[in-house]
Amino acid sequence: MGWLAVVNEYGFQRMKDGKPEIRRCPCQSGADEKLIAARLRNIDGLTDAERQVEFLWFNVTPDNRDGFQAVVAATQDMRRPHGFVVLSGPPGIGKTMLSMCAVNDARSRGYASVYMTAKDLLDHLRASFAPDANTTYDARWELITKASVLAIDELSLTAAKPWAIEQLEELIGIRYRRIGDMLTIIATNHPIDSFTPKLTSRFSDRLVVRPNLGTLDFRKWRSQP
Ligand SMILES: Nc1ncnc2c1ncn2[C@@H]1O[C@H](COP(=O)(O)OP(=O)(O)O)[C@@H](O)[C@H]1O
Ligand SMILES: [Mg+2]
Repeated sequence: MGWLAVVNEYGFQRMKDGKPEIRRCPCQSGADEKLIAARLRNIDGLTDAERQVEFLWFNVTPDNRDGFQAVVAATQDMRRPHGFVVLSGPPGIGKTMLSMCAVNDARSRGYASVYMTAKDLLDHLRASFAPDANTTYDARWELITKASVLAIDELSLTAAKPWAIEQLEELIGIRYRRIGDMLTIIATNHPIDSFTPKLTSRFSDRLVVRPNLGTLDFRKWRSQP
């Protein structure tokens, strides 16, 4: 149930690797979203407390309003979460908090969403090569590329190996091409032009939203008497 045979232009069943080719019926897209959501939950980098964080908790100031509104708009789009948002700036301005809010908000509305630091994401992909890995690299890759909302936090290429750079470039390229159907949020302390030419070029694209979050460090602000 839920699968359709793929036919060629003459109406004959198409074969792939000696077997009839099948594809998921569009009527099952809701079921797929649930399946992906359940798997993403296992690799999600949020603690139980962080899963409670919501947009309502975000203190909106004149400085960060731009960023807040951009992330809310991309997440709560009438059709479905979509777009590409790059949050860059110094520590403490709310990049991580906003990313978490977006993931939690979309997830609460049934969209398969995941928050991961870039390091955890790469570790997760790398771990698929271990002999005792429970899923393949392809399965892990597909899960991350298909998430309705993917938030990659703490993106940094400092000391990144070529393999890691290649993975990030490819992943970001794929997510960028699906900008109309899914939401990708990148958070980084590094300036956008400090990445590889490929990444910098994507991040600088006119379709990518790079909102201003100001410079107020909420960690310091909170600890003031
Ligand atoms: N606008 C905000 N409203 C309330 N708390 C905030 C806001 N921005 C940041 N914080 C809090 O300040 C701390 C640092 O924010 P965080 O999102 O980790 O910053 P960044 O990722 O930019 O370094 C966190 O505890 C976060 O919950
Ligand atoms: Mg952060």
